[in-house]
Amino acid sequence: MSEIRKVGVIGAGTMGSGIAQVCAMAGYPVVMQDLSDAALDRARTSMLGSLARLVKKATLTEAQAAEATARIATATALDQLADCDIVIEAIVERLDVKAGVLKLLDGICRPDAILASNTSSISLTELAAASAHPGRVIGMHFFNPVPVMQLVEIIRALQTTDPVAEAVTDLTRAIGKTPRVSKDSYGFIVNRLLAPQINEAINCVYEGLATPEDIDSMMKLGANHPMGPLALGDLIGLDVVLNIMETLYHGFDDPKYRPSPLLKQMVSAGYFGRKTGKGFFDYPPR
Ligand code: 3HC
Repeated sequence: MSEIRKVGVIGAGTMGSGIAQVCAMAGYPVVMQDLSDAALDRARTSMLGSLARLVKKATLTEAQAAEATARIATATALDQLADCDIVIEAIVERLDVKAGVLKLLDGICRPDAILASNTSSISLTELAAASAHPGRVIGMHFFNPVPVMQLVEIIRALQTTDPVAEAVTDLTRAIGKTPRVSKDSYGFIVNRLLAPQINEAINCVYEGLATPEDIDSMMKLGANHPMGPLALGDLIGLDVVLNIMETLYHGFDDPKYRPSPLLKQMVSAGYFGRKTGKGFFDYPPR
């Protein structure tokens, strides 16, 4: 396997643009791919906002922020990722769609290029099975907001080879994050613990136990969480939270992971949280 010199990122949403940003800040040339120019433009705008925050608090100089921005090329075609040593996908949380992209990458990337997935809960072993070279598939799970959160959860599929796991662990350190390895299981570690807590907070609202404001304030004041579970659900995206709960519920076939009826209703109504301007709280348009 060759050294990681160039990074490809598929998907220019909140996670994809954050991943592209932290890799570029660490000096890696990055190609960020998405289907539309509009999505890439939105990603660039949010990245510029994030870099400006980092400059304001003197984590980066203006020159470093400009260099990081210049290291990110954008593309709408997947074949622009052909010379990347690792491709990290951060697209929609659907096994069939992610598997389809891995199959396409088999025909585009070198056979020794690493294919990493930022999936929040899908089995890496099932994903790796879609690739002609399953040993190079691995989970690289980042946390929102990516420029701030320290952890990258590294998930080894049953098929992942040792050199691939080592290379991804080294890359995680090189971009200033802290790697922690988990075996493959639905939701891995963090989301298996976090999503049920958010789901249970939503059940508390559903049962009329307290207002969203009070539930969040109780977890901040009583458990010292930086933000309450409902605000966190809005930050992650209630559609993503539902997706994780459904993966846990069906994957483990265990009723303790049943998604809250109110969570399902919020998602049906299009109230996804920050990204739609409405969730358990209201947000200004982006
Ligand atoms: N880019 C750069 N910097 C950012 C940023 C961004 N996108 N967002 C926040 N920051 C910085 C701010 O500049 C600030 O820096 P400073 O403390 O040095 O001045 C710092 O982060 C704190 O930001 P704020 O003052 O605006 O707000 P808060 O103090 O309320 O912190 C928070 C915001 C960092 C989001 C904090 O509330 C927090 O840590 N919340 C929990 C987040 C969390 O749990 N994330 C994981 C979600 S799970 C997940 O992502 C997995 C997925 O699979 C679902």
